[in-house]
Amino acid sequence: MLVEVVDNYETLSDRAAEVVIQQIREKPDSTLGFATGGTPKGLYNRLIEAHEESGLDFSKLTTFNLDEYVGLPPEHEQSYARYMWSNLFNNVNVTESQVHIPHGMAEDVDSHCQWYERRIEEAGGIDLQILGIGANGHIAFNEPGSSLGSRTRIKTLASKTVKDNARYFEDQDMVPEYAITMGVGTIMEADEVLLLASGERKAEAMKKTLEGHITAMTPASMVQMHRFAHIVIDEEAASELDYQHHHGIVEPKDE
Ligand code: GLP
Repeated sequence: MLVEVVDNYETLSDRAAEVVIQQIREKPDSTLGFATGGTPKGLYNRLIEAHEESGLDFSKLTTFNLDEYVGLPPEHEQSYARYMWSNLFNNVNVTESQVHIPHGMAEDVDSHCQWYERRIEEAGGIDLQILGIGANGHIAFNEPGSSLGSRTRIKTLASKTVKDNARYFEDQDMVPEYAITMGVGTIMEADEVLLLASGERKAEAMKKTLEGHITAMTPASMVQMHRFAHIVIDEEAASELDYQHHHGIVEPKDE
């Protein structure tokens, strides 16, 4: 694992942008995996800037998003489809045919999930998957207890996740209880994963992820098994770590 601890959220976003921009420049027809949440917004703003200021070209990419709420149509304000279009895709040269986001209103969810897995395979697999992390150690919507070999499927959200989300919804009846999510196994097949975490709220989850046992109770801990996991976290998210991580060298903090 390559763990980079940076000063703050702005530096984290700069660093993440460097990695993604380099990937796009080196392989313009890359398949990229995108994540939602507050954490990657700084990265997406920098990608938009790179497009506007230096013509970073998105037109040959294929994209896959990690997850989507079940029961929300793509145009719903809180859907992840809407998030992606307003925070990134509408502001760069991406068209609908390049983009894949699980469909929250799919009639036959199981076959939709199988189709999604097939599409990833047909695209040649994901070159670079961006990941955030939930405070409970989830990645995408693989909540604690998720099989570490899981594939794209429907998941019930943890009650903490439902509560955390409720504040975004005016109509409380619309707060989703289920999501379609890539599985931990699906995510781990990406050639590179780039996990981003910022703030004290993520410190406990990052300790478990990087220094704890690999366990379904912390689905993100599976990054320890990945052949190229690149982790960029800020000082606050790293504050609970017992080890310091520097240029790939890992040593106890007091040495
Ligand atoms: C949701 C998403 C995850 C994301 C997490 C953390 O649960 N499904 O993909 O990583 O939120 O979000 P934030 O970055 O806002 O803390």
